[in-house]
Order: sequence, then structure tokens, then C-alpha cells
Amino acid sequence: MATIMKQNPLIIALDVETIEEAKELVEKLSPVVDTFKVGSQLFTAYGPSIVQYIVEKKKKVFLDLKFHDIPNTVANAVSSAVGLKGVFMLTIHTLGGKEMMMRAQEAAQQKSKSWGILKPLIVGITVLTSDDQKDNTSAIVLERAKLAKESGLDGVVASSQEAALIRKNLGKDFIIVTPGIRPAGSEAGDQKRVTTPAEAILNGSNFLVVGRPIVKAADPLKAAKDILKEIEKG
Ligand code: C5P
Repeated sequence: MATIMKQNPLIIALDVETIEEAKELVEKLSPVVDTFKVGSQLFTAYGPSIVQYIVEKKKKVFLDLKFHDIPNTVANAVSSAVGLKGVFMLTIHTLGGKEMMMRAQEAAQQKSKSWGILKPLIVGITVLTSDDQKDNTSAIVLERAKLAKESGLDGVVASSQEAALIRKNLGKDFIIVTPGIRPAGSEAGDQKRVTTPAEAILNGSNFLVVGRPIVKAADPLKAAKDILKEIEKG
């Protein structure tokens, strides 16, 4: 786990329409970024080819397809994701329940072992950061994070607002991935539970997922460097 803590915490969400745009971003940001997130927009259009491209560039892939289905289907989907060779981390929904999460982790372990590759980290989505903050949001996030840990997952995706609570209750080795990151003065868009990069790190997040503030910036490399500076402050 120590190696995970020491990694560059910034993950770029490649939320773009074409593979050309995605490749351009990977090229531009590679000097300062180690991990790129491939989500449903890009994967639905281009499939494994975008994963292979990122791996060829010696960068890591966070496959964010948020699997949520019956245990058997999710286990098989996770096994296919491991088969892409090069996925460093992937998402499933905690709402899928304990059996689904356990089967997903087992499938990842088996496939990685049989292929002789490193098992991807599996993190569970708790409550989307685009959902409004309600009185019971923190309690729901913590409950789902506890279930994820009991089911053997490596960590969860949660807003920075809940990161401190998860860190306190679930220990230092449980991974927290936080989207909804907005540097001071930037647009929130559809995200509701947003925080600055420094706050997220201070609250205990291990990885920060940033999309639009970097991807849509006039100068993405400068935007990424500015966020990294803010992370260092945290
Ligand atoms: O553009 P923005 O920085 O809001 O992008 C955040 C990224 O993180 C998107 O790709 C979104 O799908 C993803 N994400 C999220 N909330 C989660 C899990 C993933 O916003 N709970």
C-alpha cells in the first residue's frame, strides 16, 4: 500500500468525444500525469484500443465503467477488464451488494493470477458527486464504504466531503478516490459535492479525478501543473 500512497495522485478523466482528442491530451499531459481515466464515453466508442494506447505510452489506466449488474455478470465483466492487461484500477457500484463486490474481487484475483499480471485495484462507487448533499449523505457513503471493505474491495470513490469520515473509520490502507475536484474559481458544472484539490488531500483522498477543469482548459498542461501545486499544498 505504501507504493500507492507515494503515487502521483492526479488522475485525468479523458471525457472527450474522439480518440484523437484523447491521444492529444495523453501526449500533452504525460510529462506531469501518470494515470488516465477511461470512462463510458470513450470506451463505448473505441473499446480496448484506447486502453492499449495509454499502456503503450507507459501510463496507467483507470477504467471507470461503474459495473452494476448481477454478481455473475459483474464478475465476468471484471475478468474481461483484467484481460485488457494494463488496467490499474476499475470501478463497480457498491449498490450492487456484497455478493456482487466479493465475486468481482475474486474474479480479478483469479484472472490476474492465471495471466501472471498485477491485479487491478477495485474501487466501489458510493454516492455520485453529482448528487445533492442531503442530511444523510455522509451516513450513506460511510455505510456503503464499510460494505465495500467487508466485501474485500480495495477502496471507494467518494467526495472529499466524506473522505475524512471514511479515512477515520476505515483506516489508512483503504483507498479513497475523489472526483468533483474544482480549483478555486472554476465552474462546478453538474457536480454538486465539489472541493478544491488541497482540501481533498487534507481530507485523506489518495487519488483526485479531474476532468473538465483540465480537459476543457485553454492550456491543459498549465491547468494540470496548477492543480499539482495545489495538491502539494494539501
Ligand atoms: O469534469 P469532472 O472533473 O466533473 O469529471 C469527473 C469525472 O469523474 C467524470 O469522468 C465522472 O464520470 C467521474 N466520476 C464522478 N463521480 C463519481 C465517479 C466518477 O464524477 N462518483
